[in-house]
Amino acid sequence: MKERSNFTSKLGFVLAAAGSAVGLGNIWRFPYLAAKYGGGIFLLVYLILAVTFGFTIMLTEVALGRKTKLSAVEAFHKLDKNFGFIGYITCAVPIIIFPYYCVIGGWVVKYLTVYITGAGTSASQDGFFGSFISKPVEPVVWLSVFIFLTAAVVFLGVEKGIEKVSKWMMPILAVLSVAIAVYGLTIPGALDGVIYYIKPDFSRFSPTTVLAALGQLFYSMSLAMGIMITYGSYMKKQDNLEASVRQIELFDTAIAFIAGLMIIPAVFAFSGGDESILQAGPTLMFVTLPKVFNSMKIGTIIGVLFFVLVLFAALTSAISLMETIVSIFQDKLKWNRHVLCLIVMVFAIIVGIPSSLGFGIWDQVKIIGMSILDFFDFLSNSVIMPIVALATCLFVGFIIKPSAIVDEVKESSEFKSQKWYTVMIKWIAPICIIAILISSVLSALGYMSI
Ligand code: PHE
Repeated sequence: MKERSNFTSKLGFVLAAAGSAVGLGNIWRFPYLAAKYGGGIFLLVYLILAVTFGFTIMLTEVALGRKTKLSAVEAFHKLDKNFGFIGYITCAVPIIIFPYYCVIGGWVVKYLTVYITGAGTSASQDGFFGSFISKPVEPVVWLSVFIFLTAAVVFLGVEKGIEKVSKWMMPILAVLSVAIAVYGLTIPGALDGVIYYIKPDFSRFSPTTVLAALGQLFYSMSLAMGIMITYGSYMKKQDNLEASVRQIELFDTAIAFIAGLMIIPAVFAFSGGDESILQAGPTLMFVTLPKVFNSMKIGTIIGVLFFVLVLFAALTSAISLMETIVSIFQDKLKWNRHVLCLIVMVFAIIVGIPSSLGFGIWDQVKIIGMSILDFFDFLSNSVIMPIVALATCLFVGFIIKPSAIVDEVKESSEFKSQKWYTVMIKWIAPICIIAILISSVLSALGYMSI
């Protein structure tokens, strides 16, 4: 059999995995959650959870992949024949997410072209976004362009495609985010926004702060969707696993933090300190920011740079989703990568179309009160992902035992956090996950607001 592909270096692995982790979640979701849940206090809670909980789950997934050299669907089965079903549930997540993630990716490509063609002012007009996403055809065209770009990279394979692209996109992404943040901070009034972002407001601390941070952490670090298992399966045995996981987390959290600095102070100054605008959520990026850019002297340039940054973030995440799906079928059916790429590409366009139409001609279609895209998002992030994470923790904690993971980590280095890891994976992480699962279901049913 053909030997499994590998990332050629630890850096290649770290940047590709960070590419998956850094996505739309970091750029629009993190800043607005931080604004909503008390600024500095949210940052602090998030940070503590990242180095404890996030570290535990990510390390587990990467180790499962590297140990078995298989993607999620086969990895669980290989370690224990009775628990192969966890692999199947895990696979459902990227298959559900990929099509609708590409719908949003398509919007990003559209906005980038609007700014590149110098039409940024039109994007800042009221109604621009709403009228664009409700069109039947245009968003589908952009969705297809985005999927095509993603597929081109996955088609080229792990070393020549994913690793190469991550190695140049991720550093550019980091530089752009710092540059835009620094420019934003020079706007008069922006410093008050920085204080609003960073200063802890303890009065806003509540258990929901922890739950919101935990939910964000999952999504942001691409956990519980088989991605880190797949990428781990391409990692070399001699590359330091513990250090790599720490670096991925650091990269992801740093970009989320800088995204906050990039967005919150600028919007704060623009809106004269109106918090409700910051807490508007999803529309922040496509509706409010274009208005902010329009008020800047070099708004068109900032707009282009910003949407390049967002496009890179979205692309590297979409690539990881598509690679995970392709590798599942490669392992399972032993089909050719190129054929699979074409099939997954067509599948994603077809399944993405209803999510896109849900904002226009199909906006009457509601599933448990949600639009089609929101429903897919809810199903994957709030229901299946916590179940997968819980199953993974219990599988490692009680079936194959934490020592299986510990041994894998030790293949490449000492395991400094070994004791702590064992307690986390067996007890603390499962309890946290059960809390997320209960709260997200309650909030979907309208009993709680997150
Ligand atoms: N981690 C990505 C983010 O922060 C989200 C993502 C979702 C990535 C699904 C890959 C797959 O936006």
